[in-house]
Amino acid sequence: MRLVVVSNRVALPDSSDRAGGLAVALDEALREGSEGLWFGWNGETSRRPSDSVHEQRHGKVSFATVALSREEFAGYYESYANRCLWPLLHFRVDLTAYDEEAEHQYRAVNERFARLLAARLRPDDVIWVQDYHLIPLAGALRRLGVSQRIGFFLHIPFPPAALFETLPGHERLAEDFAAYDLIGTQTEADAAHLRDYLAKTLAVPLEGGSLLHRGREVRLDAFPIGIDPAGFRALATAEEGESEFLRLRANLRDRALVVGVDRLDYTKGLVRRMRAFESLLAQFPEARRQVEYLQVAPLSREQVEDYRRFRLELEQLTVKINAQYGETDWTPVHYINRILSRATLAGLYRAASIGLVTPIRDGMNLVAKEYVAAQDADDPGVLVLSRFAGASAQMPEALLVNPYDVASVGRALEQARQMPRAERRARHAALYAGLCRQDLRGWRQSYLDSLRGTRA
Ligand code: G6P
Repeated sequence: MRLVVVSNRVALPDSSDRAGGLAVALDEALREGSEGLWFGWNGETSRRPSDSVHEQRHGKVSFATVALSREEFAGYYESYANRCLWPLLHFRVDLTAYDEEAEHQYRAVNERFARLLAARLRPDDVIWVQDYHLIPLAGALRRLGVSQRIGFFLHIPFPPAALFETLPGHERLAEDFAAYDLIGTQTEADAAHLRDYLAKTLAVPLEGGSLLHRGREVRLDAFPIGIDPAGFRALATAEEGESEFLRLRANLRDRALVVGVDRLDYTKGLVRRMRAFESLLAQFPEARRQVEYLQVAPLSREQVEDYRRFRLELEQLTVKINAQYGETDWTPVHYINRILSRATLAGLYRAASIGLVTPIRDGMNLVAKEYVAAQDADDPGVLVLSRFAGASAQMPEALLVNPYDVASVGRALEQARQMPRAERRARHAALYAGLCRQDLRGWRQSYLDSLRGTRA
């Protein structure tokens, strides 16, 4: 059996896309099997659409990538995927901008990917499609006669039906979902929303977790994605991580570091997070000078207006807090847009007394998990985590907060700052054990076992 992964972004070995948790997860999935194929966009745009597929092989894994035309990129990626589906799936109906021509491009790219991929498939392949860019892919493959098992995994949340139904033409996506053998979501709540929505829209019965549609079974289940906790911990203590850790600790002296690491995205709750840190300084003057907040926020989707607006707001707030609270020898907020290597991140997490992860909505959030994994078990930091991150369902020992309640997040920061070592150790031990119970390998194995078990 060969595993074929299809995703919008393909993380070629040695590309910067490797920095994310998702890329690492998929790469390891492909390397586990006897052979693997990863198909998707090459990250470039050309003047005209071109069907030429660039193939390269690294060990047992082949990477096959295609360029998008500028028009395709604008319609498929910027508009339909990221101005429409992304906000809607994160419950932000207010930011959702539907455009008919963009939907047309989205579907056309999926059809083209299907055509190019179908020509490369073998009878014993199992196909695993990733994320919201490619929902129509299985339907397009089926129309070309592809009968192999096809699974889909949604890395981001799925909202209640009442929200999803506001999307013009949402019924077409419902039909697209029904072409898969298995649909995986991050949490039980997402799976329940999607099941409920599909059963209602397609007017089909539910049996166990499955839908019966046109004589086929579509299975729906939650598969919470994990990390490799021991591997990440090793990164935090190996040369590069260790030197980052030591340098930061020396720099901080006795000050506590609060760290946030997120793509610069409005779903990450960064403006409210910044206000929560300000609220810590306002509510607890004794915390001033004792704590610094570092937000690492690599720029993302800058072509999309909502991202630009939100970036400006965040930058203004950062300046304002430093201007208001800063001292000649103390800067409360540090904010950087650079992408850091995974080893540097691991060392940074290890040096931080508080990991602050407060998205207003998030599929899973692997930063929360990596922060925990990087800690020293005998003197660990504290994770402050949004209830609205998928990870919160598996991490009850974190300090769970409502990111909309800014003052209470400020108080949670103070609680974390004051938390006795014994309590920090107990919480960390429980969290770390949880990471080991549901790790990256388990995620992949249980998903693929489940996919292979369809049509039994
Ligand atoms: C999220 C999505 C991924 C996406 C990533 C980066 O994690 O679930 O599918 O690749 O963001 O966003 P970008 O638009 O740069 O690919």
